[in-house]
Amino acid sequence: MTTEWWSGAGLALALASMGVVSGAAKAAKARARRDARRAAVEEKRREMRARFAREWAGGGVVVDSATVGSAAVGPVGAARVVDSSPRPESAPRPAPRPAPRPVPPPRVREDYYPRNYDDLYPAVSTSKRSKASSATTERNELRRARRKEQRAKYFNLVGSRQHGKSRDERERVIAEFERKIASPEPMEWLFDTASGSPFDAAVFGYAAKSLWRERYLDALAGDGAFSDVFLTHQSSKVAAQRFGAGDAVLKCSNPFPGVVNGGAVGDGYRMGKVEATTLASVPTHPAIVRIYAAFLEKSRNESYLLLSAAGKDAHTMRENGELTPRDVRSALRRVLHGVRHCHSHGVVHRDIKAGNVLLSPTPANARVKTKYRATLIDFGVAKQAILADQSHCSMYGTPGYQAPEMLLGDMSGKVDMDEYAKVDMFAFGVTAFFLCTGKELFGGSADENAPNKPEAEAKVKRVAMAFWRRDGDRGGDDDASEEDASDALILSSMLSYADMKMPANHARRFVEMYGDAGIPVATATTTLERRVVEALSRSQPKPFAELIAACLAYDAKRRPSATEALLWKDAWRDVADDDVEDHSWRSGASEVCFLPPATTM
Ligand SMILES: Nc1ncnc2c1ncn2[C@@H]1O[C@H](COP(=O)(O)OP(=O)(O)O)[C@@H](O)[C@H]1O
Ligand SMILES: [Mg+2]
Repeated sequence: MTTEWWSGAGLALALASMGVVSGAAKAAKARARRDARRAAVEEKRREMRARFAREWAGGGVVVDSATVGSAAVGPVGAARVVDSSPRPESAPRPAPRPAPRPVPPPRVREDYYPRNYDDLYPAVSTSKRSKASSATTERNELRRARRKEQRAKYFNLVGSRQHGKSRDERERVIAEFERKIASPEPMEWLFDTASGSPFDAAVFGYAAKSLWRERYLDALAGDGAFSDVFLTHQSSKVAAQRFGAGDAVLKCSNPFPGVVNGGAVGDGYRMGKVEATTLASVPTHPAIVRIYAAFLEKSRNESYLLLSAAGKDAHTMRENGELTPRDVRSALRRVLHGVRHCHSHGVVHRDIKAGNVLLSPTPANARVKTKYRATLIDFGVAKQAILADQSHCSMYGTPGYQAPEMLLGDMSGKVDMDEYAKVDMFAFGVTAFFLCTGKELFGGSADENAPNKPEAEAKVKRVAMAFWRRDGDRGGDDDASEEDASDALILSSMLSYADMKMPANHARRFVEMYGDAGIPVATATTTLERRVVEALSRSQPKPFAELIAACLAYDAKRRPSATEALLWKDAWRDVADDDVEDHSWRSGASEVCFLPPATTM
């Protein structure tokens, strides 16, 4: 019927004269042209997406930065990685756009980097440095020297007298040591005097003598609130055969009384044990410090960890102006690899910060182009999925780096590990902010009088230190209230941003903890997200700045996981090339590819 209508020339003419057919035909043609144009544009977009994915994301898989970190994100832990390949026709299409816009020209590579990208960041002075008087420094030096002396005596003692009295005994001790150290099972490299039996103490002593020697305890590599770390050379043949030629450090816990407020806080033995067992339970990874052996001395409440030497801490290097934005970004990528590795083995670090990231110069013959290799250290307050915490969760971590759900005690008891892992992502975000801006994000240099300084050590250690430094034997109440005050301060610093909103259950907890008068209100003129993106994109590529902002979301579910962060679109151009590295551990080298193939994600 219709064709006859159309083919009827007379009728067509008649209609044309009425201006109807010509209008409809034109409209149909225009529609067809528009459809063709749209299809061409869509095709071009697909091509570009695929190309970007190939060039910058390494595996052809990218995380769509528009979905991660937005309300559209699925349940926690669900895979949120999207394939960049063209959508199959059956897949649900996004709502049609009103009008096709011209395709923007592909971003030129140079536009990606801000100016001065390869210049050193200027040095920054922190309150910690400027405030430490020479008297304090001198006192600390003296204390450290005294501790070193005491250790020397102790090492001499265990190294000489505790190997068993009779020849038989000695042989048994040596056999036990050799059995343990030859074991492929890292838990066997832990020498523990816990049983209190003379035999264990003798094996401990023999191991200490074989694996490190006090006279080789060298310069101080660094110190934390809880330990002195010395460079040491693997002097013995056993050590050299066992661990290769690399230098090691000996992390010696400082002596502590061990009990604060009835709880075993500041327990050198227990904290060493947590760190040693955590490191031993995670398969070795180039971005995580390696443990060679651990000496856990129950009766002295001390621990000595023999670890791979990993360089200088990133916090100090940033303060000294020794890093460029490129160095920082590549170090952060490596840290993410390390964090991802921990998370995939049921470990949450809980104390990520620049002070716990060490950088060592890349060897000249290495395949990677980056200047430094980053290593994550200090697993003293790490959380292992299988072990229960000894303290309230808000105690773990460093003030200013703790996620809101930690501060508000929302992570106590049984918590899904994927969810718990997001506290590391928050701390990672704060760390990145510090490394890129030289400023602490929360409760930092802006408030010099704050009771806590963000560069302070992990809280659980701080409380122990405060106790240790006090001469009397009062309880720890003062410390507890000081912690509360500083937590409240950090929280109000976070909540001053309009996008950092407490959900109802957090608000209830806040009132329980601090009373309802103190509920912080948003006072900042900008959102945290905007502040972070603006501050970071001055020295870093914008997609990277956006990733860091997403890590700092109040809602843990909106923070990307470590894997998602590694796959964040465009955040890691260039530095992702260094994901493959030769990694030699024990005998023979093996190649480790950090990024798993996309199919396993
Ligand atoms: N493997 C290592 N290689 C080189 N230096 C280290 C190593 N481990 C620790 N250090 C130095 O010692 C400092 C304290 O070590 P850390 O493990 O963080 O102890 P704490 O638990 O007391 O904070 C670090 O900041 C670093 O300077
Ligand atoms: Mg530390």
